[in-house]
Parts: sequence; C-alpha cells; structure tokens
Amino acid sequence: MTETAEPMRVRAAVYRGDDGNRLAVETLTLAAPEHGEVRVRVRAAGVCGSDRHVLDGEWRVPLPAIMGHEAAGTVEAVGPGVRGLAVGDHVILAWHQACQRCGECAGGKPWACTRARSNDSLLPDGTTRWSDADGSAVYPYLATGAMSEAVVVPEFAAIRIDERVPFDVASLIGCSVGTGYGAVVNNARVLAGESAVVIGAGGVGLSIISALRLAGATPIVAVDVSEAKLAEARRAGATHAVPSGAELPERVTGITAGGADVAFEAIGRVQTMQQLPELIRPGGRAVFVGLPPEGRRVEVDGLLLAYEGKTIIGSNYGGLVPARDFPRVAGAYLSGALPLEDLISARVGLDEVNEAFDAMRRGERTRSVIVFDD
Ligand code: APR
Ligand code: ZN
Repeated sequence: MTETAEPMRVRAAVYRGDDGNRLAVETLTLAAPEHGEVRVRVRAAGVCGSDRHVLDGEWRVPLPAIMGHEAAGTVEAVGPGVRGLAVGDHVILAWHQACQRCGECAGGKPWACTRARSNDSLLPDGTTRWSDADGSAVYPYLATGAMSEAVVVPEFAAIRIDERVPFDVASLIGCSVGTGYGAVVNNARVLAGESAVVIGAGGVGLSIISALRLAGATPIVAVDVSEAKLAEARRAGATHAVPSGAELPERVTGITAGGADVAFEAIGRVQTMQQLPELIRPGGRAVFVGLPPEGRRVEVDGLLLAYEGKTIIGSNYGGLVPARDFPRVAGAYLSGALPLEDLISARVGLDEVNEAFDAMRRGERTRSVIVFDD
C-alpha cells in the first residue's frame, strides 16, 4: 500500500549546542517518507540517559540535533514499497537502524552491524528528512529524533505491537526496557535460580531487575546511591537493596553465598564498572550495560579474571533483535509479568523537556515520558 504524503511542519526539541545543555522547541519541516520509509505520529517519547550524555557534552553527535530515541506512536503515512506496515499500526521505534543485509544482520546480531548510519544521526541513505526555518539540515539523534510530533524512519525501524499496550509503556520498550530485558535474556542468558546484582536502579537498571524476576533469578541484589531508587528496585523485584558504599563486595558476597552468578552495571561510571568482577563468583559474568563518556578506560585484575574464569560481556542495546524482542516484551507486559507502568514517574509535555532532564540530573525521577496530544 502506498500513500502520497506531503512535507509537514512539526514541533520538536532541538539541541544546538550553543545554550549550555538546553533544548529549544522549534518548528521544523519533515519531508515525506521516501521508498521503504514510514512517517510515525509520535505519541510518547521517553527521556533517556543517552540523550543526557549528549546534552552534557559526554558524547558528540552531529548538530543541530532533534533529541529523543525512545518512542512509540502510530503509522501516519507510508512511502512507496512499504509492505509490512499500514496507516494506523501502533509501533515502537528501534534506534539502531542496521543494514538488514550483512552477515551480522542475517545472523541475528543487528546491533553489531557496522554499516548502520544511525549512530551518525543519518537514515540508511546517508541523509536526513528534517530541515529548520533556514532550510538547513537538522539531524535526528540516532536517526530517530523522537522528541518531535512526527518522525520519518525506515519501515524496519518501526516495529508493530499489540494495540493494547499504552503508548507511554510502549515507548520505554524501545530503549530502556528493551535494553534491560535484552541484557538479561540475550547477553547474560540468565537462568532460573541464578543470583544477580545490579548497580544503578534508574530506568535501565530497574528494567534489568524486572527482567531478572521474569527469568527467575534469585536473589536479586539492587545497589544505588539513592534510597528512593532502592525502594523502586524492591518494587521491581529486587530481593535485597544495598546502598552503594565501601563494603559492597562483602555485602554482595554475603547475600549471594560467595558472589553473584551475574552482575550488571547500569550507570556508565568507570568506578562501578571496575567493581563488577569483584562481585561475581568464579565462572560468573559481568555485564557492562551503562555507557561511560567517550574514551574512558576500565581497569580489571587480569590474573584474577583469567584464573577465576570470569567473563566480561559488553551489552549494546541488549543484543536486541527488535522485530523479535519488542513484541515479546510487550507480551510479557500484557500478561502482567512485567510491571512497566511502575517505571514511569512523570508524564510531561514537550515544552517541559528541559525540566525533565534537570530532574534526571538530580536523580529524582525514574523515567519522564513526553506525551503528545492526539
Ligand atoms: N553508585 C550507585 N548508583 C549510582 C551511582 C553510584 N555511584 N551514581 C548514580 N547512581 C544511580 C542513580 O541514582 C540512578 O538511579 O544510577 C542510576 C542511573 O539511572 P538513570 O540516570 O535513570 O540512567 P538510565 O537511563 O537508567 O541509563 C543508565 O545506561 O543505556 C545507558 O546511556 C545510558 O549510561 C546510561 C545508563
Ligand atoms: Zn536510550
């Protein structure tokens, strides 16, 4: 099915890099979807730690940038050649736009595709569909740019899901929840009865904890600096909540009878990443999920790592295969096994985006979700 679509004007949160870490809501022009692309009316967009990394100067991206990459909405127009989606479908956006053709993509590891252009804020053809009032290109962060009333993405980056999943919950599946679920299921392959520790109980860490509960891990030890986050962690399924501090290895070793089978870092701090190997038992897995600023080195005790047969696993986007995993996570939510509503601590309008990032910087909110009107 094809449908003619015209360019449209959209309000979007734009970061130009010349006003500190502030975003401004601008009116941009969004071109019509081209071959194999769809236009999605965004209904909800999560405020994610990765956007904050960019705003706070930790990662460089092409500017000006439309921020946001964790979103859900409805298909509003389809370009020529689109076969798998129709107007009205409810979709979750995937922010890693793999090429769909290389060996990694064909082998079920799209996150390892080296031909993806989305990390450079470009669609697969190397361009962007956005322009500002001057007619200059504006770059959608992770080729998604979800803090916008509508986006244009390749068909394969919009995954249809069950319409019964509310948009705010669905948006989180596109990044934090999917990443946490995938880290547990795809990267660490956690088995029922294994013991686990999670450092950092923000949006990603809480998603890891709820996926650990789904997988049957026990005990599940949550670690955070914030008492409020530790309370959230218990609600998400942690059996133990431990404030981060000097005695962390002893505390974890005590609770897990000699070290956890698997440990996750979900902050992106070098100090806590370095701690992970100490928290696992011989033969255990340490999973790096949090993303540190560019160029940081992590030190590990090489002898102990080899001698004790420990594994460090890098987790990029939870090893997700979005077309397979987004519907699975949505299904687990609909069955009641994943209480994802609990992750949303505030629903805000697009004009409140700076306040939402400030709340994240203060560590106050688990997840703010920007909601758009019908
Ligand atoms: N020890 C323990 N917990 C800490 C510490 C610390 N030293 N410093 C911060 N934290 C906690 C915060 O209290 C918060 O609960 O880490 C959590 C971080 O959560 P968010 O800021 O909500 O970040 P989130 O969106 O979960 O992303 C975490 O994963 O995908 C990546 O880019 C993302 O690097 C980021 C990480
Ligand atoms: Zn994200």
